[in-house]
Amino acid sequence: MSNSNNITPATSSLSSLPDSPEKLHGMHIKHTRIEQIMGELETLIYPESQDSILLVCGPSGVGKSTLARHMVKQALKNASAQMDSDAGLIPAVYVEAPSSGENDFSWRLFYQRILHQLEGELSMPKSDYGIDASTGRMIRPRGASGNSLAALRTAVERGLRARGTRFLVIDEAAHIIRQTRRNRLEIQLDTLKSLANECGTQMILVGSYDLYQLVSLSGQLARRTHVLHFERYRQDNEADLRAFQACVKKFQNTLPDLWGEQLEQHTAALLENTLGCVGTLSAVLTRAAMLAQQDKRWTVDALRRALLTEAQRKQILEEIIDGETAINPGLTRTMPRAQNRPVGRQARSVA
Ligand SMILES: Nc1ncnc2c1ncn2[C@@H]1O[C@H](COP(=O)(O)OP(=O)(O)OP(=O)(O)O)[C@@H](O)[C@H]1O
Ligand SMILES: [Mg+2]
Repeated sequence: MSNSNNITPATSSLSSLPDSPEKLHGMHIKHTRIEQIMGELETLIYPESQDSILLVCGPSGVGKSTLARHMVKQALKNASAQMDSDAGLIPAVYVEAPSSGENDFSWRLFYQRILHQLEGELSMPKSDYGIDASTGRMIRPRGASGNSLAALRTAVERGLRARGTRFLVIDEAAHIIRQTRRNRLEIQLDTLKSLANECGTQMILVGSYDLYQLVSLSGQLARRTHVLHFERYRQDNEADLRAFQACVKKFQNTLPDLWGEQLEQHTAALLENTLGCVGTLSAVLTRAAMLAQQDKRWTVDALRRALLTEAQRKQILEEIIDGETAINPGLTRTMPRAQNRPVGRQARSVA
């Protein structure tokens, strides 16, 4: 038998492969880190919560936006029975904080985006104030001042209340910080906080590590903010390695005719190259699958060409390390050692 007909373990012909790389788009792997963050958020989102702002910070490509969208989708699914009986209800809303390219964050554009989500496509009536009973659509304040910032904010406030929105997810929330002048930032964030308090809607701010600066702005804001760290999977942690390997396996199983079982053996290299970020892993594997499709066969070389370059990896790693260095000490929570003596007796001995 000639060697040219042999398929080495690292190569397979694509001519008979029905798998398309498109299958990787829109995948949602419920991996350990997502489950942890979702679990914590679900616990902390409830009516009357004092945590009006929840911050989810993490590295680029860790899967923050995927988590944010999934949370909203899940909340809508969980409330589907209530939504059937009250079609005006929108329990959760996802918006992306706009990046206007200007120096100042555009609150106008931001409020308009929220309003757009709140107006929805609903055709059923809702009798609460602010919703037209015949169309189910939200009534915006009209007149000359209808488009002023104050009027937009009022409309958002009314809308969130009328739609019974429990939480609003603001993705790319670091744009608010980056584009707001330092002396105005506290005022603007107070706006979010009061919006949350007035409407009973919790704000989930999702973004990169620079979002974390928000907690250092004011004690009052810090008190009402809870921080969650959406961390990468780490090479030096056994449980992280296993969780990341499970993700690689899920990607492998999505295109079995392309990869067979050959992807799993590269887990360590993939973890190293993608810095343990599942979103980046998804991008690398999608590229590898596309390159294999173009080559009409799967080779390890297609995977190698799909990896991040060392320069890219170094840049992302530097940002991650800076972010982790800033956030980790800030996440230290100290619990003073419990006293064995009953408080009453201790009080007496002090007296
Ligand atoms: N759990 C997952 N399962 C499958 N694919 C995922 C998962 N998480 C992320 N991805 C994919 O990885 C890509 C990047 O993810 P995502 O946009 O959520 O990352 P991010 O942390 O928001 O990145 P950025 O910092 O650039 O905003 C997306 O195309 C997404 O489909
Ligand atoms: Mg994102």
